[in-house]
Amino acid sequence: MSILVTGGAGYIGSHMVLSLLEHGHNVIVLDNLSNASSESLRRVEQMSGRQVILVKGDIRDRPLLDNLFSAHDISDVLHFAGLKAVGQSVEHPLRYFDNNVSGTLTLCQAMEAAGIRRLVFSSSATVYGEVATMPIHEALPTGSPTNPYGRSKLIVEEVLQDLAKADARWSIALLRYFNPVGAHESGLIGEDPNDIPNNLVPFVSQVAVGRRDVLYVFGDDYATPDGTGVRDYIHVSDLVEGHLCAMQAIARQSGVNIWNLGTGQGYSVFEIVNAFEAASGREVPYRIAPRREGDIAECWADPAKAERELGWTAKRRLDVMMQDTWRWQVNNPEGYSPA
Ligand code: NAD
Ligand code: WQD
Repeated sequence: MSILVTGGAGYIGSHMVLSLLEHGHNVIVLDNLSNASSESLRRVEQMSGRQVILVKGDIRDRPLLDNLFSAHDISDVLHFAGLKAVGQSVEHPLRYFDNNVSGTLTLCQAMEAAGIRRLVFSSSATVYGEVATMPIHEALPTGSPTNPYGRSKLIVEEVLQDLAKADARWSIALLRYFNPVGAHESGLIGEDPNDIPNNLVPFVSQVAVGRRDVLYVFGDDYATPDGTGVRDYIHVSDLVEGHLCAMQAIARQSGVNIWNLGTGQGYSVFEIVNAFEAASGREVPYRIAPRREGDIAECWADPAKAERELGWTAKRRLDVMMQDTWRWQVNNPEGYSPA
């Protein structure tokens, strides 16, 4: 049996593929390489000493999916493929709904036709919208995401809930990630943003390595201890371990299961800058800029449900998250593309 990882050449997916191989699974990756390089999987193969089948293609391509499912004996689908740039989703909503929503519909239709009904979906804490009190637990109603990217995640969650209601044979995990950061401890694979990074940690890391001059801190007047935004940063390797536990859990029970994957601890932008400076030994110059539209003041998880039901907790602390990010950045200043 094999596991299909959509988006497996990307940031989180490549760490997942490595871990699956290390756990003895056979892995097939479906990725259109729209935001990734096959170099990530070449390195994963080198690190694991095992081979990955990479199918270069799109989750919206039904004939390709049908061929893939008939050519391989697949037990589970881990579905990471999607577009994730919030700002771009505001400019190109159709592109986002087509890729993330239609893509997932096509994937599920092909899975159903092939009789494969075990799915782990990469959702996001963004589906909670703006929440008044922290921490955020899964029983809270979903809110109103402030952008098309977030809405695409919420729509897919709702579609998958309806699907499992209609057919009890589906086993689905909706994993709501908080803020994934860090890289594999080897420094061989990590996050490689295509353009200017949208997210804080890759931006800080590119400033520290000298690719960018200065970090713009989006607002220092929030009602938070130091005025900057607070988030729940989680190491990508902890996130991956959460997926392994979720996969085991949905093999035992059907229906939809929702789990937050976060640490339960919030850090401010300034705390991230300080931690990164300590990890890298480099200065991270910053300027205060206006708030970014759509940003919330604070957001962190209540991870108790995942601990109780999956036996999973995030183990890696902030200093490790920053050290691993730095090791990846300094060893690969231009990411996967040669300098
Ligand atoms: P990423 O962009 O590095 O990985 C996504 C991968 O999907 C890329 O390799 C891309 O080439 C591929 N892809 C995109 N559209 C595709 C399509 N139509 N067909 C086939 N492949 C396609 O992003 P990531 O950070 O690894 O995120 C993985 C998943 O987790 C995404 O669904 C993302 O929305 C979700 N997520 C990410 C974060 C985060 O902060 N990184 C937070 C919450 C949720
Ligand atoms: C973190 C904090 C910013 C950049 C986004 C998406 C969410 C999910 C994860 C997934 C905030 C501040 C940032 C910068 C800054 N995406 N910041 N200067 O906003 O929690 O979540 O990524 O797929 O859906 O919305 O993460 O890393 O962008 O920001 O001051 O250059 O850093 O204002 O307080 P966010 P982030």
